[in-house]
Amino acid sequence: MKFFEEKRREVMTHIEKYMLEKMHDFLKPIDTIWQPADFLPDSSRDTFFNEIKELQESAEGLSYDLIAVLIGDTITEEALPTYESWLTMVEGVSKDEEGGWMKWTRYWTAEENRHGDLLNKYLYLSGRVNMRMMEISTQYLIADGFDIGTGTDPYRNFIYTSFQELATNVSHRRVASQAKKYGDTLLSKMCGVIASDEARHAKAYKYFIEKIFEVDASEAMLAFEDMMRKKIVMPAHFLREVGLKIGQTFGHFTDAAQRLGIYTAVDYVDILKELIEDWHIESVSGLNEEAEKARDYIMKLPERLLRVADRMKNPMLEYKFSWING
Ligand SMILES: [Fe+2]
Ligand SMILES: [Fe+2]
Repeated sequence: MKFFEEKRREVMTHIEKYMLEKMHDFLKPIDTIWQPADFLPDSSRDTFFNEIKELQESAEGLSYDLIAVLIGDTITEEALPTYESWLTMVEGVSKDEEGGWMKWTRYWTAEENRHGDLLNKYLYLSGRVNMRMMEISTQYLIADGFDIGTGTDPYRNFIYTSFQELATNVSHRRVASQAKKYGDTLLSKMCGVIASDEARHAKAYKYFIEKIFEVDASEAMLAFEDMMRKKIVMPAHFLREVGLKIGQTFGHFTDAAQRLGIYTAVDYVDILKELIEDWHIESVSGLNEEAEKARDYIMKLPERLLRVADRMKNPMLEYKFSWING
């Protein structure tokens, strides 16, 4: 066990060098990147109330399930303190504030922070949401934390974040296109820019894992296998509403997402396939025997999961969320 942790730390120190060099390829300059204010009505202008009226008129057309998914997505974004504190606990993230890992974590958090901020303000102005109920869920989710099966292992962590950033890219992108269909072009633009941030972040995390494969292929493969056996759970899997137990709202949120085709079992498989391809899993060399078996498992997994997804029925049960008015 001792050896295991030491090796992880060594690899992380090795990658930390690249972090400082490459970080800004994956992030955008703060002075010019979009801010929530670019999309939202400006309260210092006379046109403010008219703009809110327009915003509410477009939001009126959004379906119940779409609003529910948007709220779930927003709460997930708003639980950012959980993700930031968790990243700093990862083995090998040196406590040097100016080191590559701590700096990456801060800069990543700073970009992500705009997501919850923008969506929250939109939902507040939309007139569709019981804000108090949503805020209770947000506070609960941050208080409850999460358990995603990575421990403090950097390999498992960055496999998780690679997957998760791709998943959020898909779901924000789909909300954007559905909002457009309902005629809410503002919401569509908002979710579009968020989705493209998520895509950039996915590239960063995929790059970290690529680097890990270069120096510790067998362990990286075993970590990938382990995460896929456990299944990648979403960071909001503890989602609840007032009066409910931990995690009790989560299934209703994912049901709505599956029903609308915003994030489905097939998307899960597509993300897995993308990672298999991007990390060249098929052609990684120098694996030990155990890691060869892990590769076998991973390579066969998409087919297996697709067969399961085929048999899955669309969850039809509608659910009344406390978050939504009326
Ligand atoms: Fe985000
Ligand atoms: Fe993200």
